[in-house]
Amino acid sequence: MTQKLILPGLIDPHVHLRDPGQTQKEDFYTGTCAALAGGFTTILDMPNNLTPITTAERLDEKIKIAKGKIVCDVGFHFGSMGDNVDEFKEVGQKVIGLKLYLSLTTGGFVIPKGKVEKVFRVWSKRKVILLHAEDDTLDFAINLAKEHRNKIHICHISTASDLKQIIKAKEEGLRITCGVTPHHLFLTDQDVKRLGPFGKMKPKLTSKKDQAFLWKNLKFIDVVESDHAPHTKEEKESNNPPFGVPGLETTLPLLLTAVSEKRLTIDDIIRLCHTNPAKIFGINRFNDLNHQSRVEVDLSQEYTIENKNLFTKCEWSPFEGFKVKGKVLRVFIRGKKVFENGKILAKAGFGQIIKPD
Ligand code: NCD
Ligand code: ZN
Ligand code: ZN
Repeated sequence: MTQKLILPGLIDPHVHLRDPGQTQKEDFYTGTCAALAGGFTTILDMPNNLTPITTAERLDEKIKIAKGKIVCDVGFHFGSMGDNVDEFKEVGQKVIGLKLYLSLTTGGFVIPKGKVEKVFRVWSKRKVILLHAEDDTLDFAINLAKEHRNKIHICHISTASDLKQIIKAKEEGLRITCGVTPHHLFLTDQDVKRLGPFGKMKPKLTSKKDQAFLWKNLKFIDVVESDHAPHTKEEKESNNPPFGVPGLETTLPLLLTAVSEKRLTIDDIIRLCHTNPAKIFGINRFNDLNHQSRVEVDLSQEYTIENKNLFTKCEWSPFEGFKVKGKVLRVFIRGKKVFENGKILAKAGFGQIIKPD
């Protein structure tokens, strides 16, 4: 028996499509195909390309490349290592948010601590600053946001102590939101041995106890973000494996499985993967214009996640072998059917570039 349900087109505000510069890992076409297969009609791409997107010129070039390749709607975050505040005005109309890496991760684009304050001062108070900030750098960022009244979004929170800090900041009235990844919700440090380099990402997988705290306090978490961070199998199996795991195609089936296990509700999925990301990242207007974007799922269909069925160019998932319940049947964007029965129906270039509200 099928149990069909229609969801609004989902929004993933945190993906790394690697284009241009590292298209051996992913590109705008394969990455957006993975998005559609996973029920996402809108994704926001991160700036840590091989050459980071920290100038208006590089941003324009990236947008130009994306235009011919994307099959879902894509918006962009800008990057900064503290020395490009002169570019902020020009890119403000084109990007959704500003991403700062305060802790070390893939790309190594960590902004020196002494340069963060200036960035907080100059970046528009109406637009979000997204932060990769763990432990003490989280504390540092929260204090700066308190002083300068910025809108901040803490990416991929993973520990009880970080979430506790964020809850406290929310209670103090700060303009702060946070996201959690599916891998931090569905994997723990107990999976690291089995997964080897394919279980390595930043922040690292945590204990069952930390994970339980995230689930218990889901009402304080604003979005689920895949942090889709593809790397080739070869790179992962090398002596120095890069951090990151893909996630666009597995987020929704994992969340639907949690619904079938009564750990989550459909309303939670809509809040975490649609309503909140649209609101937080200021893409409501775009979203309303595109209310015809939707996803049809079958809540009763069970299947096993298999690498061979993935659209991501990296061709692997840390969730391979997971039995899930809840399958994406069809996806529509602006009324047009773009995905059905495991097939991409949209042509490269069908997707639109998202401008902020
Ligand atoms: C991301 C990547 O590969 O770009 N890696 C990761 O482990 N999460 C970067 C990031 O989001 O920190
Ligand atoms: Zn990060
Ligand atoms: Zn990321």
